[in-house]
Amino acid sequence: MISKNVCVIGCGYVGLVTGACLAEIGHRVICVDNDPQKIAMLREGRLPIYEPGLDLLVERNVKDGRLSFASDIATGMQDVEVVFIAVGTPPRDDGSADLSFVEMVAREIAQNLKTYTVIAEKSTVPVETGEQVERAINRYNRSMAPFDVVSNPEFLREGTAVHDFLHPDRIVVGVKSARAEQVMRDLYAPIEARILVTDLRSAELIKHAANSFLATKISFINAVSQICDRVGADITLVAEGMGLDPRIGRSFLQAGIGFGGFCLPKDVEAFLYISRKVGYEFDLLRVVKEINEAQRACFLKKIEEALWILKDKTIAVLGIAFKPNTDDIRFAPAIDVIRHLQKQGARIRAYDPVAMSRAQGCLEGPEGSICFCPDPYEAAEGADCLALLTEWPQFRELDFGRIKKSMTHPIIVDGRNMLDPKAMLELDFEYHSMGR
Ligand code: UDX
Repeated sequence: MISKNVCVIGCGYVGLVTGACLAEIGHRVICVDNDPQKIAMLREGRLPIYEPGLDLLVERNVKDGRLSFASDIATGMQDVEVVFIAVGTPPRDDGSADLSFVEMVAREIAQNLKTYTVIAEKSTVPVETGEQVERAINRYNRSMAPFDVVSNPEFLREGTAVHDFLHPDRIVVGVKSARAEQVMRDLYAPIEARILVTDLRSAELIKHAANSFLATKISFINAVSQICDRVGADITLVAEGMGLDPRIGRSFLQAGIGFGGFCLPKDVEAFLYISRKVGYEFDLLRVVKEINEAQRACFLKKIEEALWILKDKTIAVLGIAFKPNTDDIRFAPAIDVIRHLQKQGARIRAYDPVAMSRAQGCLEGPEGSICFCPDPYEAAEGADCLALLTEWPQFRELDFGRIKKSMTHPIIVDGRNMLDPKAMLELDFEYHSMGR
C-alpha cells in the first residue's frame, strides 16, 4: 500500500466522506473548508452533518493522526500528491450548475502548486468542466509545476455513504495521462473494486447518465403506479414481477411520492441543460421530471379526497428527510407537501427521527400552523389524517392501534407504500397508498 498525502477541498457530505474514508484506508488527509465555523466544529470532534458511521471514522482517524482539518487551501496543499475538489455546484434558476466555487478553488490550487499534483474533480459537474479547470489552473500556475486534472465522480448515497465509498460497485477515473492513472490506482489500491479508466469527458458523463437513469427508473414505476391506481392492481407486485428479470433488477422500483434530495433532481435538471446546450433535446428526461412532480400532486389529491376541505384540519406528518437515515431535507418531497398543506389552511404536527432541527429552520407559517412533536405518537394526537412521507423503518413498527385511538379520524395516506394495507384495514383505518 502506497500511503499518499491528500487534500480534500469542501467539507460537505461528499468531501467529508471522501476525506474520512481515504484516511481510513491509510492515506494522510487534510480536509479544507472556507467556513471557519465548520472547521472549528470538526476540530472539536463534532460533525456538521448526520451520516451513519462517519462520526466514528472521523474520530478514529483524527486520533491516529491520519485526518486533520484546515480553513485555507495553502495549508491544506502542503506536500500533497492528490487534491480533491468537493465543493458545492448548486443549481441556478435555468437548471445549469453554478461552477463559481469550482473556479475559485481551481485558482487557489494553481497558486499553491509546487510539485506534480493530481487534481481530482469529485463534485458533480457538467461535461467539459475538467478541461475548464485545467485551463483555469494553467492561467494561474505561476510556478509552472506539472499537474493533471482527473474526473473521479462519486456515487455515494446519503445514509450509506461510508459503506458505498469503502465497498463501491465501481470506481470511475477519467484521465488524460498514464501518470495520473497510476496515482489514482495507487490511491484506491486498498479498495476492492473494478476501476474503470476513461477519458475525462466520458467520466463526467457517466455520473450524469447514471443518476438520470436512476431517476428514470423511479418515474417509470411511478407512471405504472398511476395505471395500477386506475385498474385496481398492486404496484408492489408489478414491481416485484418486473424486478425479478435480472436485466431490469429490483432496485429503484419503489413507487411513491417521487425522488428528492440534492442529487437526483439537480442532476436531471443539469443533464437536460447540458443536452440542450450541445444541441440535443432530451425529451425523455423532461418527462421524467414531470412525472416526478405529478406524483406529489397525486399524493396531495389523495389527502384532499379523504378530507375534502383542508382548512383547520390537523395533519400528522411522519418523515421530513428526503429519504431514511439522513437529516438532509434539501429538495425533500415532504417540504413541498407540508408547505402546500399549510397554504390550504391545514395545521401540521410533524415528526422525523433526525431531520427535526433542520426542518424547524426552514418550515414556518402562521402561528400554530406547524408543531414539531417529540415522537410519532404525539404527532398523531388529535390528527384528522396521518401522512407518511419518509420510509424510516421504525415507522413500520409503530403501535398503530394506539395511534388510531389518539387520532380524531383514522385516515392514513402512505406516500411510500410502507405499511401493510390489510393490517391497516383490520385496524379499521381508512388507508390510501400509491398505486395499490
Ligand atoms: C443518489 C444516487 O443514488 C447516488 O449514486 C449519487 O451519488 C447521489 O444521488 P441519494 O441522493 O443519496 O443518491 O439518494 P437515493 O438513495 O438515490 O434516493 C433518491 C431519491 O429517490 C429519494 O428521495 C428516494 O426516496 C427516492 N427513491 C429511490 C424512490 O422514490 N424510489 C426508489 O425506488 C428509490
